[in-house]
Amino acid sequence: MEAIILGNTQVNEFNYTNGFLFAEKISLQKIAEEIGTPFYCYSKNAIVKNFLNFKKAFKNFPTMVCFAVKANSNLSVLRILSKLGAGADVVSMGELMKALSAGIDPKKIIFSGVGKSREEISKALGVGIKQFNVESESEFMEIANLAKKAHRVASVSLRINPNVIAKTHRKITTGSHDDKFGITCEQAIRLFQKSSGMQEINIIGLAIHIGSQITKVTPFKEAFNVIRKLANDLKRMNFQLQNVDVGGGLGIQYANENTVSLKNYSRIVSSLMNSLQCGLILEPGRFIVADAGVLVTKILRLKSNGRKHFIIVDSAMNDFIRPAIYDAYHKIIPLKKTKIQKSKSAKKWDIVGPICESSDTFARNRIFRDPKENDILAICSVGAYGFVMSSNYNSRQHIPEILISGKKYALIRKRQKIEHLIKTDILPRWL
Ligand code: LLP
Repeated sequence: MEAIILGNTQVNEFNYTNGFLFAEKISLQKIAEEIGTPFYCYSKNAIVKNFLNFKKAFKNFPTMVCFAVKANSNLSVLRILSKLGAGADVVSMGELMKALSAGIDPKKIIFSGVGKSREEISKALGVGIKQFNVESESEFMEIANLAKKAHRVASVSLRINPNVIAKTHRKITTGSHDDKFGITCEQAIRLFQKSSGMQEINIIGLAIHIGSQITKVTPFKEAFNVIRKLANDLKRMNFQLQNVDVGGGLGIQYANENTVSLKNYSRIVSSLMNSLQCGLILEPGRFIVADAGVLVTKILRLKSNGRKHFIIVDSAMNDFIRPAIYDAYHKIIPLKKTKIQKSKSAKKWDIVGPICESSDTFARNRIFRDPKENDILAICSVGAYGFVMSSNYNSRQHIPEILISGKKYALIRKRQKIEHLIKTDILPRWL
């Protein structure tokens, strides 16, 4: 058995056995033959391990781990986490309803996001979520008004924008004053003061989330310092915090890059919490599920123009968009390790999908020795921000999701039918 080092390297649920890539105890080739390609495949064990390891790292504090549902919102994934006691960080009505359907306790649900609609706020108040993470004064007032009308008391946390550089891809940076997220410390203090006379709204904490796939300690440290200082200022003004929500953002290893270890991250969080003495909330997404998933895809065609060599696969940017929008690197490995003949020289290949634009490229200049049409590949570490970001672009169907547990596997989302694409459009009578 040969383990594949994936993601944050905690996971060894994907490995080669007798030359075939296995997820836990099942050959992915076998599943591909049974259900066809492409499909997403998750290892239950990997999700469980990642969650429990993460939770354990903060055991010295009263902690709530609220999984960021945007990373992977399949009901089965949410059910696994719910059974382990996870809460949820949601950003839409859909995510709220999915978290509730998966059995997540509303008292462990946090509603984040810069643009919560009136319907979303009312629904969340109605089911009694733990807190709203508020992102503007206008939203604060809207929540207060809706709570008053519903004869409820809304619990809120103020999301602070600490104006730090997260040193990650610019499209996933959220903690600088050029970003739309959060409010300043001064605005937060004003809201605390304003809330004093309000019965219908209770500010119970501070929240922060400075970006995703963060691989350096400095941004976390800088952001936490801002929170520490603000918490102390508030204390001096007699405002007590019940909790601090440090968001998500802990990066994983996609290639061989250096990352912040869980141990280091928990040390930095602990040093903040030791100075605050209140509850801790975390909102990890990627760290829990990224390396628990692979995207299995078949080679449709090989093509060469003398200069460049292309492997054209049956999945595309509509199924998995991270490489197209963030130039993200993902390992790509064959399901079947063939004995390599010495005579076959290694060539560099671009792995591309069938969509009609050049950004439909999963990887460039990857070395493969003797790939063949109909061979099957696995794109690694796609459990986070994979299926959830897929679309029907080029009128392609959504692909299935599979969950593996030991020797068992289950279809946890059906392949979308072509009829669905046609039925959901409406032809007006006058056309
Ligand atoms: N909390 C909040 C308020 C967030 O906005 C996010 C992610 C998280 C938690 C979870 O962050 P994580 O632990 O997963 O880094 N589509 C992008 C990532 C966007 C992340 C958005 N917010 C990607 O594929 O890299």
